[in-house]
Amino acid sequence: MHSTLLSTLWQKIFAWLDERLGLNDMYKGLLDRPEPLGNWWNTLGSASLFLFILQGATGIFLTVYYTPSPDHAYDSIQYIMTGVAFGWLVRGIHHWGATVMVLVVFIHMLRVFITASYKYPRELTWLVGVGLLLLTMGMGFTGYLLPWNQRAYWATTVGTSIAGTVPFVGPIIEQALRGGTELSTLTLTRFFSAHIWMLPAALLGLLGVHMYLVIRLGISHVPAADE
Ligand code: HEM
Repeated sequence: MHSTLLSTLWQKIFAWLDERLGLNDMYKGLLDRPEPLGNWWNTLGSASLFLFILQGATGIFLTVYYTPSPDHAYDSIQYIMTGVAFGWLVRGIHHWGATVMVLVVFIHMLRVFITASYKYPRELTWLVGVGLLLLTMGMGFTGYLLPWNQRAYWATTVGTSIAGTVPFVGPIIEQALRGGTELSTLTLTRFFSAHIWMLPAALLGLLGVHMYLVIRLGISHVPAADE
């Protein structure tokens, strides 16, 4: 009795929302498609998407305690690891998730390459994917500096001087990344800004296009002998 009342109430709420938002049409257009022939390699794109969401969620929680200044960055992470309830878990997931995401995105790209899924009509999906790979690596590069420990400091010193070896524009890129000739407060704040705003915003935009194309074109399949 109680549960039928609840389910009719729920049906009414759903019908009210559906009439205004077109939820059923959205479901049919976005999700109600035949499942592609089972193949574990085809799940790597979704795994990348899951890792992106996981990194976003854990990253947002980390900003509650992390402070992007040379005086406090290191200590704020020590505090997250030892003083904040489950801070070690959230930071651990974000730390290892970063490595796993780079790996999974790369293996996803390898499977697309090996199955030649970049061919007509999926050239754009591939090109947008290249942007996604670069942005994912940019997230790793900018995030690496944030703990502001010795390893982070020197890795970024080396990384930014490698950028400085690009012909002609190298020194300009190096200065722009560092915010000067040396690593300083400016480097940390601009890496932080890139890590939490600029790169994720660009990633989100490209992901929207990538997913739109995947839904529009469907997943490629190996042609049968008579196709
Ligand atoms: C953040 C990174 C990425 C995410 C979240 C992502 C997500 C996805 C998802 C969910 C799919 C559909 C399922 C699948 O085929 O696995 C897909 C397909 C595809 N992705 Fe990605 N992807 C990413 C990076 C890349 C990269 C780096 C490339 C190549 C340079 C790429 C190229 C493609 C192509 C061509 C397809 C269509 C494959 C087919 O139809 O068989 N993606 N992606």
